[in-house]
Amino acid sequence: MYDRRALEIIEQRLGLGCARLGSVLGVRGPTAAVLVATAFEQGIRFFDTASIYGQGDSERILGQALHSVRQHVMVVSKAGQYFPRGTSFAKPFKRVLSPLSGRCGLGRHIVAKARAAALPQDFSPSFLRTSTEGSLRRLKFDYLDILLLHSPPLDVIEQGDAIHFLETLRDEGKARMIGISCDDVDCGLLALRDKRIQVIELPLWPWTDRSDHFAECALRQGVYVVARGLIGGALGAAPPDGPHRAQLLRGIVRSSLALSGISRLIIGTTRTEHLKEILDALRGREDSTCT
Ligand SMILES: NC(=O)c1ccc[n+]([C@@H]2O[C@H](COP(=O)([O-])OP(=O)(O)OC[C@H]3O[C@@H](n4cnc5c(N)ncnc54)[C@H](OP(=O)(O)O)[C@@H]3O)[C@@H](O)[C@H]2O)c1
Repeated sequence: MYDRRALEIIEQRLGLGCARLGSVLGVRGPTAAVLVATAFEQGIRFFDTASIYGQGDSERILGQALHSVRQHVMVVSKAGQYFPRGTSFAKPFKRVLSPLSGRCGLGRHIVAKARAAALPQDFSPSFLRTSTEGSLRRLKFDYLDILLLHSPPLDVIEQGDAIHFLETLRDEGKARMIGISCDDVDCGLLALRDKRIQVIELPLWPWTDRSDHFAECALRQGVYVVARGLIGGALGAAPPDGPHRAQLLRGIVRSSLALSGISRLIIGTTRTEHLKEILDALRGREDSTCT
């Protein structure tokens, strides 16, 4: 069991992944607001969103829920992806589609398939500016704590112009820190070569040589690393029940945060009870009930 202070430090390094906040397959309305408020009450101070999440609704929900505590939280948003023309037609019907897609297998399948298709990207200065200003407007914030390029291809990272433009946006006060959200460790290692990059977000799996190597290099360079993909990875295959489940969750959070190169670990959940289960497991309350 951790002592109280050590536990607080770990909790402060956790973040809430908000990809499905306000999305058809995620959590909407008052339940979404409760999820964010519960995360804050439970000590979470870091929230990860993007201009495209929930077609902008993720940022709207977060902005509203965090308005009164803005100075106590860090919010990441991302720019560079957009929905193709024609897909926004569904937006007015989200309220209807959301419960339908939850109940009907076909509806869920159609929405999931549409979402899985690779989204178009644009890392030009004009698009990055419009996207970032849109994020600030939806959040009703003056600045983002972290602004990231959203899954850029490797040539965009190598070429470096997009990061140069994020520096301009940071100089204008629109973001405090800038960086890249990567899809894998190879992308992360490439991003580490660009010394202007302050933050790298990526899926990391501790106990693999590549992840450990990345975390060590990032630590040496003083890059702020946001890890994701751990909870889904751990629970994905055959999640155990009861105390073994709590042990697994506690183990995964502890071991990833024990890698000192990792600044934050994002938990991507749409369910308050799932978030509480993870926090309870971390705090050593193994009687947490959750299905
Ligand atoms: N390119 C990018 O920039 C990019 C890509 C992917 C993700 N992200 C960010 O990273 C965040 C996290 O995404 P991720 O893929 O890394 O997710 P993750 O945290 O590894 O796992 C999320 C999955 O785990 C489930 N889960 C969470 N807690 C659970 C529990 N206690 N019991 C059972 N299932 C549980 C969630 O389902 P429930 O909702 O039912 O809890 C969800 O299916 C996203 O929200 C987004 O902010 C960014």
